Order: sequence, then C-alpha cells, then structure tokens
Amino acid sequence: SAAEKGGYDTFMAKEIAEQPKAVSDTLLGRIGTDGRLKLDEMRLTDAELREVDKVVVIACGTAYHSGMVAKYAIEHWTRIPTEVELASEFRYRDPVVGPRTLVIAISQSGETMDTIMALRFAREQGAKVLAICNTQGSTIPRESDAVVYTYAGPEVAVASTKAFLTQIVACYLVALYVAQVRGNKYGDEIAAVVRELQDMPRKVDLVLDTTEEMKRIADELKDAPSVLFIGRHVGFPVALEGALKLKELAYMHAEGFAAGELKHGPIALLEDGVPVIVVVPSPAGRSVLHEKIISNIQEVRARGARTIVIAEEGDEAVVPYADTIVRIPACPTLLQPLVATVPLQVFAAAMATAKGLDVDQPRNLAKSVTVE
Ligand code: G6P
Repeated sequence: SAAEKGGYDTFMAKEIAEQPKAVSDTLLGRIGTDGRLKLDEMRLTDAELREVDKVVVIACGTAYHSGMVAKYAIEHWTRIPTEVELASEFRYRDPVVGPRTLVIAISQSGETMDTIMALRFAREQGAKVLAICNTQGSTIPRESDAVVYTYAGPEVAVASTKAFLTQIVACYLVALYVAQVRGNKYGDEIAAVVRELQDMPRKVDLVLDTTEEMKRIADELKDAPSVLFIGRHVGFPVALEGALKLKELAYMHAEGFAAGELKHGPIALLEDGVPVIVVVPSPAGRSVLHEKIISNIQEVRARGARTIVIAEEGDEAVVPYADTIVRIPACPTLLQPLVATVPLQVFAAAMATAKGLDVDQPRNLAKSVTVE
C-alpha cells in the first residue's frame, strides 16, 4: 500500500532513501569513542583471528558484489590473502579450505540455498564461518560460527539496495577489526579510515541529491540498446552492480567491466553513441588509478561512446572527458562504493519506470532463492 511505501512510489525508492540510516544503524555501537572497533558478537577469539591465513568470501548476486569490495578492503587493511567466490561455484571445484581459513558468507535473507550449501561445505572442511546477514535468526547465521548482522531493516523490493550498502559496511568493520586484532602496520591509516567511515551516513545522504539528475539521464538513455559500466579497483564491483541493477529492473543489456580490461576485448562493442557509465576513483592519494581511468575514458570516447562520469566533488581533471558528469562526495577510495553505487541504483529504477516496468517486482526474479 501507499502507506507502507512511506510516500514513495515504490519500495525501492523508499529503500534507496533509507540508506543513510541503514549505514548509520550498521555502524551503531561498533566503534568506541576511542576509535577502536568493538565486534564481540563475532565470537571468534583473537587467537583464532590471528591464525587465519586465508579469507574466502562466498555470496550470490548483489551480495557477491559486496564481497568483491570486501576483498579489496580485507587484503589492504589486514594483508590476509582473500578470495571472493560465487557460492554456487565454490563447493563444486574442490577448493582449498581448512581450519585456518575464515569463510565469510554474505546474505541479506540468510536463506539463499547456494550460500547455505557452500557454508556447510566450508564447515565440513574445518573452516570457521562468519555470516554477514540482515535477517536475525535465519539459516545462514544459525549455521555459522559467528555473525555480524547488518541493520538495513526489512528490504521489500526484489532488487537489493540498502542491504548492499550495509553489507559493505559490515565487511569494512570486520576487516578493520581483524586488522586491529592482528596489530598490523596500517595503524594510522586505520584510525583515519575509521573516522571517515563514521562520516559515511552523512555522505550517503548527500549523494541522494543526485536522484533527479539520474532520472533525467535515464529518460535520455531509455532507448539505448545497451549500457556499459566501467570502473577500477573498488569501482569495478560498483560497475558490476550498476549493470546488474539495470538488467534486473530495466531488462536491458548491460555489462560492467574493469576499465583496464576494456582494451582486451569489450572495446569492440563500442560504436557511436553507446552510453558508458564511468565510476572514477578518488583522486586523493590515488593519482595512479585516477590517471589510468582518464586514459580509459579517452579510449572509449575515441570510439564514439557517450560518457556519463561519476566523479568526486572537486575532481576537475575528468571534466574535459565527460559528456555528462555526476558528482559524488569525496571519500577515501576504499569507502567510495558507499556513495558511488547510489546514483546507479536510482538510474536503474528510473530506467524501469521510464519503460513502464514494475520496479519492485521484476519478472523472473525472487527476493530470496531457496533452491540450488
Ligand atoms: C536473489 C535476489 C538478489 C540477491 C541474491 C542473494 O537472487 O534476487 O537480489 O542479491 O538472491 O540474496 P541474499 O539474500 O543471499 O543476499
């Protein structure tokens, strides 16, 4: 009903708007006034966490994209080798998993059968399983050794939005906590990033200001035969998520690529007017990535692509390469997915609306898939 949607046209629009609160609720009580992480609920002892020699993240769909972001964060902050794998592939390929492996199972519903089967397999191999889940008492947390809940609240729209942002937040918290326990060399950087993380609800709120602009862009592009998304580093999973949302909601051909990989094949897809949405890495302290993406933008523009560039406030260097520029708040590179994803969610929903499709219940999809 309209009341349930809180004045929004769709549950998805409501849930997109709830993201600042979802992020803030997921951070609540988990960072002390001294800036130290408090994750007692993780239940794994410091000794167990010190023994971990490998992390494997398993998940499906949108949750898998949050796992890809987690890989960048966990390896950078903890130096523990980390893999991320689709839950449906994991147990069928004889993976190397043992008692020193920490498996992180990410799931909004906690009932996804592919993920449940993967975590059971991991536990049989002696691995410790940590669930990151949005549903209290669901199967995945019940069968795991420990759980860090996300506090997105109930997510009704089939396409995941606020759950995704909170999954990423939970992954950061776990990564920073493990780094803290293991006392690695990134001490100062971690203190700084914890402060930045606390400021993210405000930035997620600011980025909602791009909503009207993204709707306009969607209207202009609604007849495009396909839309490509490119990004680098954590912008790569953001590109994949932007493309997945567009497939799910607007039934359009959409693909996400690591921008550096374009020249190894996908660039052949480009012709006049193809829209390419570019997620630009933070320029601050990451000039190498930033320079690289500018050359990637030049590559696609030279082939006639129309570039819609998602770039930080104050990033002037990209302006000459953008046909359209959408501004997001500046934040450290690893945290950028929390703001960069939001305009892409709005874009996909607006595209579905422009095409007269059901935003909350796209065809052929289920909110939770309980078969393998
Ligand atoms: C389904 C949904 C997706 C979701 C995936 C994983 O396919 O349609 O939106 O990302 O399941 O769901 P989970 O509940 O495990 O996060």
